[in-house]
Amino acid sequence: MTPLASFSDNMRVIVIGATGGIGRAFIESLAAHDRVTDVYALSRTGAVPRGDKIKPLTFDFSDVETIKAGAEVLRETGKFDLIIVATGLLHGNGISPEKSTRDLSHDAFAKSFAANVAGPALTAKYFLPLLKRDGKTVFTALSARVGSISDNRMGGWYAYRAAKAALNMVLKNLSIEHGRRFKESIIVGLHPGTVDTDLSKPFQGNVPDGKLFTAEYSAAHLLDVIDGLTVEDTGDLFAWDGQRIAF
Ligand SMILES: NC(=O)c1ccc[n+]([C@@H]2O[C@H](COP(=O)([O-])OP(=O)(O)OC[C@H]3O[C@@H](n4cnc5c(N)ncnc54)[C@H](OP(=O)(O)O)[C@@H]3O)[C@@H](O)[C@H]2O)c1
Repeated sequence: MTPLASFSDNMRVIVIGATGGIGRAFIESLAAHDRVTDVYALSRTGAVPRGDKIKPLTFDFSDVETIKAGAEVLRETGKFDLIIVATGLLHGNGISPEKSTRDLSHDAFAKSFAANVAGPALTAKYFLPLLKRDGKTVFTALSARVGSISDNRMGGWYAYRAAKAALNMVLKNLSIEHGRRFKESIIVGLHPGTVDTDLSKPFQGNVPDGKLFTAEYSAAHLLDVIDGLTVEDTGDLFAWDGQRIAF
């Protein structure tokens, strides 16, 4: 289990996207940790893991008032050490990743950017003030290696790739703005690897043996990465194994 020793004792954590495969694994792992006292689990439906430390709250990226209201409820409970945005959209809600320009649609760009960029950005707007002012704090959103422009050798997946590249830019911006006031704050994007969740289900056919992770495996490695982050790392994108991914 990740020591989480780089954070203060009695860690308080928020996970947004608590019904997702990876979000759920984060919540279960963090709630089982001795150093963690509270895990606020935000989701659209409230169908999140149960446990003494786990406190469910509902929100929906399509209604900014619900993000704002969630932040107001959380503010009354005290400050936080770690905020993980584990939401994301690749397919569903009427969209699927494009193979070529023939498949491009305004609808897919609009939905992908709403879920993968505007949602995490507005979460940062209302949730960054909930972080502690002193000591190490981390705000992170799950991004994806396919959002790296320099790593793109396959093409396709236009809306998702573009949205994750935009998310990386948003996180970089946030790290600069928030870091001006809070010198120990760290804001990064994380790539979880290829993980066996609903999001990857239709695309698992070509994954090499041993490269499809369970959500528990990915979340455990990502918590190791989060624990090892320093202020030198803020603004960057890291993979599940701790490697920095070039933008
Ligand atoms: N799985 C992979 O192989 C993989 C690879 C690279 C990157 N990632 C990234 O990792 C993150 C988590 O993915 P996952 O595999 O855990 O996917 P998942 O199981 O499909 O979970 C996605 C989560 O996002 C939430 N969500 C989607 N749209 C939302 C919206 N408009 N408002 C509020 N919540 C919304 C979902 O809520 P509902 O349950 O209410 O739908 C769900 O909790 C995503 O950012 C994804 O892009 C995943």
